[in-house]
Amino acid sequence: MTQPGEYDASMRHALSLAAHGPVTGGNPQVGCVLVDDAGRIVAEGWHRGAGTPHAEIDALSKVEDATGLTAVVTLEPCNHTGRTGPCSVALLEAGVARVVYAVSDPGAHSSGGASTLRAAGIPVEGGVLAAEVEEFIEPWLTAARLGRPWVTVKWASSLDGRAAAADGTSQWITGTAARQRVHEQRAQSDAILVGTGTVLADDPSLTARGDGGELLAHQPVPVVVGERDVPAGAKLRSHPAGLIETHSRDLSLVLEGLFGRGIRRVFVEGGPALASAVIEAGLVDEYLVYLAPTLLGGARTAVGDIGVGTIGDQRRLRITAVETLGEDILITARPRRVSTPEGN
Ligand SMILES: NC(=O)c1ccc[n+]([C@@H]2O[C@H](COP(=O)([O-])OP(=O)(O)OC[C@H]3O[C@@H](n4cnc5c(N)ncnc54)[C@H](OP(=O)(O)O)[C@@H]3O)[C@@H](O)[C@H]2O)c1
Repeated sequence: MTQPGEYDASMRHALSLAAHGPVTGGNPQVGCVLVDDAGRIVAEGWHRGAGTPHAEIDALSKVEDATGLTAVVTLEPCNHTGRTGPCSVALLEAGVARVVYAVSDPGAHSSGGASTLRAAGIPVEGGVLAAEVEEFIEPWLTAARLGRPWVTVKWASSLDGRAAAADGTSQWITGTAARQRVHEQRAQSDAILVGTGTVLADDPSLTARGDGGELLAHQPVPVVVGERDVPAGAKLRSHPAGLIETHSRDLSLVLEGLFGRGIRRVFVEGGPALASAVIEAGLVDEYLVYLAPTLLGGARTAVGDIGVGTIGDQRRLRITAVETLGEDILITARPRRVSTPEGN
């Protein structure tokens, strides 16, 4: 048996290694360290994205002989052969003495690594620093559990909640710092969702660009939601990541289809009709609301009908961060979990 807290520091280090991996691309960020009997870290590894070695394999590749070492890994070692072999088997063959992990693998095909190791007589302990690691990979875990991507909805509005002026003009409400942050957030997503209305009104390019206008290394694929066609000459037709036209308003079906393509994080950029529909359907995991110090008045609210007919139906949120960007404010919020009077 391990002592309580014995592997906390090693796990925290494995978590810091996991952060080196990419947030996009379908696979989770995972870190691993190999620890000797004295508790010293003798090797480090992390996963660099789909098709590359898993964190355990990366760490094992750094030692001549792993016999008797403890593998401390942020996610339960996988049990399946995908583009790489099962990590459970690799750890067994390397002769590790013990495996400690934080979070169980929720994948239907990849889970079971802990059982395989235990069946081979290796002591395995799960749940070490589980809350910290779960929070870190929450988007990936949520996607794996729900079978749809993690959904972030972003909008920019005036202080009085308007996304555009009465005539529909909306560029630019926010300043350069806020707009630059949006580009960085795009680059942290696998896909950008946008309604046909915005494509027809604004002809956006939806690329992720740096402050010099250069394309960032990762470009999320634009996904146009709605029944209408994207016009032949639209800028989106020359997007570097390609273009997905859904020809559908069925949001659950669209998200399921994207999950099937390996997309785990989507960034909904509007417009108001699409954002409202996603909120009404209860499909939002995170809100990014940019507020500009201006007033527009009028009917063009950032969000329209979200199915709240009476105050009892309001969508309560939990604010997780407030940042000032130039003259603008970015509010990050998550849906509040509904609790029953019994607290269940
Ligand atoms: N301030 C901001 O953050 C921001 C961001 C984006 C856009 N905008 C502004 O928003 C304006 C466009 O607004 P919008 O609301 O028309 O654009 P939108 O939300 O991009 O597009 C609306 C269209 O999306 C389609 N759609 C797809 N799924 C749907 C669903 N589940 N429910 C309803 N409709 C669905 C429908 O078209 P089909 O008939 O094709 O199905 C609908 O007419 C532009 O002026 C743009 O500048 C502002």
